[in-house]
Amino acid sequence: MTTIAVLGAGKIGEALLGGLLNGGRRAEELMFTERHEERAAELTQRYGVPAVTVPEAAKRAEVLVVAVKPQDIEPVLDELAPLIGPGSLVVSLCAGLPTALYERRLPEGTPVVRVMPNTPMVVGEAMSVISPGRHATADQLTLVEDLLSCVGSVVRVPEAQQDAVTALSGSGPAYFFFLVEAMIDAGILLGLPRAVAEKLIIQSAVGAATMLSDTGQHPVTLREAVTSPGGTTINAIRELERHGVRAALLAAIEAARDRSVELGKAQQDG
Ligand SMILES: NC(=O)c1ccc[n+]([C@@H]2O[C@H](COP(=O)([O-])OP(=O)(O)OC[C@H]3O[C@@H](n4cnc5c(N)ncnc54)[C@H](OP(=O)(O)O)[C@@H]3O)[C@@H](O)[C@H]2O)c1
Repeated sequence: MTTIAVLGAGKIGEALLGGLLNGGRRAEELMFTERHEERAAELTQRYGVPAVTVPEAAKRAEVLVVAVKPQDIEPVLDELAPLIGPGSLVVSLCAGLPTALYERRLPEGTPVVRVMPNTPMVVGEAMSVISPGRHATADQLTLVEDLLSCVGSVVRVPEAQQDAVTALSGSGPAYFFFLVEAMIDAGILLGLPRAVAEKLIIQSAVGAATMLSDTGQHPVTLREAVTSPGGTTINAIRELERHGVRAALLAAIEAARDRSVELGKAQQDG
């Protein structure tokens, strides 16, 4: 049994609580902090997990999962710093916050693991990318991997790659939503009812994603299989290339990475 406190039970924090319970953790092992009483009562009723204060969480939990917005981190660190025990592991889900920030503000030697999750955590399909801080051990990294695998897939990278990760999987779902939205518009342009266009494109996205993950085949192989000589798909591909969609994606993801670096610098200077 590992006691786990989720500090900040918003969208991501709640998804993690739900996922941990689904993954077999017992409600007695879990607790959360929440600013609004009404929301806390609602979560306790839904999951049977108690709401606690930050001092209580610091005292009782072996793993402290920080899931507040990055701009709300300061008061949380102020509260934790004098209370955190030597055995506690801090897991940060806050986009862009480096492990060095926690290590600077919390007692010397506090182990920290940084995680970049993404929104599909709410349906148990997150891509969580983890990086250890200076004091996190291999066992602690494995524990974090186990916890997060209740809500999706987990990959380890060195912390220096977290800006690229933010641009790729952190923002990634938004790119797919954007593509789906544009493809539904195309259906409208071709005269299909909106509901039909939505059904066609969403199911095609689910099917394509399942083929990618289940067959393990390269995307080029899968695309070539539906691109017959002189057929319809190659005409569409020609237009995608003519309009620079591949180059646009490269530039867009590079711009997201650059913005992540910029925000990280502002955080360090602030
Ligand atoms: N959503 C995403 O796509 C995504 C992706 C990757 C990473 N993340 C990271 O995940 C973290 C959580 O994001 P989210 O989307 O779940 O945000 P959210 O829905 O705003 O959840 C944050 C929760 O923390 C609460 N909170 C703030 N300060 C607190 C404190 N001192 N004590 C107790 N509770 C406190 C907030 O309460 P109030 O309602 O009062 O503010 C809110 O309920 C963020 O750091 C974000 O960077 C999110």
